[in-house]
Amino acid sequence: MSNLTSREIHLVARPDGLPAAADFKLVEQQLAPAKDDIVVRNLYMSVDPAMRPALSNGQMKLDAVMTGGAVGVVTQSANTDYAEGSYVIHRSGFREYHISDGSDLRLIEPRGEPLTTHLHVLGGTGLTAYGGLLVTGALQEGENLFVSAAAGAVGSVVCQIGKIKNCRVAGSCGSQEKVDHLLNDLGIDYAFNYKTQSIAKELHIGLPDGIDVYFENVGGAHLDAACGQMRPLGRIPVCGMISAYNNKGARSEGVTTLSNMIYNRVTMRGFVVYEFENIREQFLYDMRTWMAEGRMKYSETIKSGIEAAPEALIGLLQGENTGKMLVQLADA
Ligand SMILES: NC(=O)c1ccc[n+]([C@@H]2O[C@H](COP(=O)([O-])OP(=O)(O)OC[C@H]3O[C@@H](n4cnc5c(N)ncnc54)[C@H](OP(=O)(O)O)[C@@H]3O)[C@@H](O)[C@H]2O)c1
Repeated sequence: MSNLTSREIHLVARPDGLPAAADFKLVEQQLAPAKDDIVVRNLYMSVDPAMRPALSNGQMKLDAVMTGGAVGVVTQSANTDYAEGSYVIHRSGFREYHISDGSDLRLIEPRGEPLTTHLHVLGGTGLTAYGGLLVTGALQEGENLFVSAAAGAVGSVVCQIGKIKNCRVAGSCGSQEKVDHLLNDLGIDYAFNYKTQSIAKELHIGLPDGIDVYFENVGGAHLDAACGQMRPLGRIPVCGMISAYNNKGARSEGVTTLSNMIYNRVTMRGFVVYEFENIREQFLYDMRTWMAEGRMKYSETIKSGIEAAPEALIGLLQGENTGKMLVQLADA
């Protein structure tokens, strides 16, 4: 294959607080793939909160291309496992083309669903929600579930699984539009805007008998309020703490209600999505079934072009997205 021009996003300064556009640079690279290289044209890339701590803690290197999930189409290949025209998922987003030997690719075989769903409901986001809620959180039928960042990618899947399991579900989010979306589109029982309401008061109204499972996406004031209202033998699966990610060392605000864990014998446990690889097949089966039944909906917020990747990440950290934040890099 002839030489390729690929544009990519480099981190050029470590942000202090909310990242700024000047922390990133769009760089043009000339690629010269060898005959036995697999060339992937990236179509969509995933934008994730965990990228923010990675900008500060050294995981993302300075003056080097950033990394992140992406789906793409194979445009050159001599490898029969990844034939030209097949779709793949990998971790080399933030660039228009990815050159691979195949070891970092996973094949996607869409069954009529949009490709983008493999970056959220049918991908890592969905598996995070499914495993975190049902395995780590051990949610039981009919329990009381509270979800923070409820209108986001993970949160909206958690809310809907909660309803599928006949739970009473309350969710918090950062705008009235998101409150309306949670109540009217996703059908949860109670939703509130944490920016304008007291979290503790809203939880007393939305879940008056207390919380069996708090699916923690946010930390800080959310954890403080929820922990104080946990029921006996309640569980707090700790998925993320986005309220802390712009802080130095991703340090979260203090929590004053932890003594409630003692008397009510509450379990708090962190998890990472990689733990759930062993249930991926069951997860895909359940999600596809629920999607076909109209019980699992999703939203996407899509920015266009590689140059929009920094603003997509900055926007995600400010709550611009409903559902999954994505960047489209090329037409599918
Ligand atoms: N453990 C794992 O393996 C794993 C895997 C994936 C994701 N996660 C975690 O799951 C959480 C959700 O991730 P996601 O990909 O689904 O992102 P997301 O919820 O789609 O997007 C992030 C949302 O967080 C909310 N937010 C931002 N700053 C906030 C603050 N200071 N306080 C409260 N809410 C704030 C915003 O919504 P509002 O408008 O509602 O503020 C924003 O839309 C994150 O904490 C992430 O780190 C963990």
